[in-house]
Amino acid sequence: MKIDLSLGEKSYSVFIDELQEIKLKGKVAIITNPKVGGLWLDFLLQRLKCEQKFIITIPDGEEYKNTASMEQILEQLFSSKLDRKSTLIALGGGVISDITGFCASIYERGIDFINIPTTLLAQVDASVGGKTGVNNRFGKNLIGSFYQPRAVYCESRFLSTLPAREFAAGVAEAVKMAVCFDVELFKFFETHDLKSADEISHIIARCVAIKAEVVARDERESGIRAALNYGHTFAHAIEQSTNYTRFLHGEAVAIGMVIANALARRLGKLSSEQEEKIRAVLQKFALPVKFKIKDIDAFYELFFLDKKSENGKIKFILPDGIGKFRIVDDIDKAAVIATLREFA
Ligand code: NAD
Ligand code: GLY
Repeated sequence: MKIDLSLGEKSYSVFIDELQEIKLKGKVAIITNPKVGGLWLDFLLQRLKCEQKFIITIPDGEEYKNTASMEQILEQLFSSKLDRKSTLIALGGGVISDITGFCASIYERGIDFINIPTTLLAQVDASVGGKTGVNNRFGKNLIGSFYQPRAVYCESRFLSTLPAREFAAGVAEAVKMAVCFDVELFKFFETHDLKSADEISHIIARCVAIKAEVVARDERESGIRAALNYGHTFAHAIEQSTNYTRFLHGEAVAIGMVIANALARRLGKLSSEQEEKIRAVLQKFALPVKFKIKDIDAFYELFFLDKKSENGKIKFILPDGIGKFRIVDDIDKAAVIATLREFA
């Protein structure tokens, strides 16, 4: 299956379970990590036809999504004499696609790159839409660019080696899209257990289609794209207050959605029954839904560090029933604090 993302001359296709051969002109550098490379590099090499191939391996982990790894990649690109007709290929999860995309956007003022995402999270979200970047000591993804790949290949077969916890983290981001945009997709999560390849491919295809439509309408997140951050304001505060060690990002997003739902319920936008349905789907896929906030005021202050906060106003993405959302920046602090108290 192929889903097109329509962005004028930056348009590209996302191929789902269709990676038979990739033919490229010029030199190609594949960026991966030892774990993914060990599992899936041969698969890619057998299907890649090009003038010359280079493999660049960076250490595995979010802590290596930084400027040092970026420098290492750029250094190897220059040493291998890649030019403006060369292509980078990201083979890995969101860490690899974010850093590869960023390197592609700055190497000799921009060269092509292709995403081959190997986690569910990267297939349903990170590999599509052109947000690229690295972290620094001030926060996550603070250095980066909007730079679209030339193509994306999502192969559900890669998920056969993915640990269950990482798979669930990807489900959280997919449920996020269902709650904001697609009640039918939400029902699919309620009625299927994602044990078969067909079910998983269906989820990937639906999420990619949603994301492609959102990005086509709002590439630079001046409006509707912000909905993809549902649950994230709370998730970032949870990740920060637990030093990024207790939860995977998708797990924190699951709890973040539960807190956002409680706020939506308090504001009359979500019924208790709908709130419970979303919680049940998250629990069904073994995602955490509970978190104890130790210091409510300190937790609230963390919202202002969020990239979505503007002029001292916190932007919340709240479900409006299931399948729709609202972006609001005028919620009374008292309502937010009362919601947080439910989790104290
Ligand atoms: P990740 O890239 O760290 O991958 C998670 C783990 O799974 C890693 O240890 C990785 O080596 C391993 N792995 C990957 N594929 C595997 C496979 N097929 N089999 C076995 N192990 C495998 O994490 P992630 O969850 O994919 O991505 C998180 C990153 O994505 C974060 O840095 C986040 O900021 C970014 N992100 C970006 C966007 C975007 O729009 N650009 C959206 C969401 C998240
Ligand atoms: N993952 C959020 C976005 O791409 O906008």
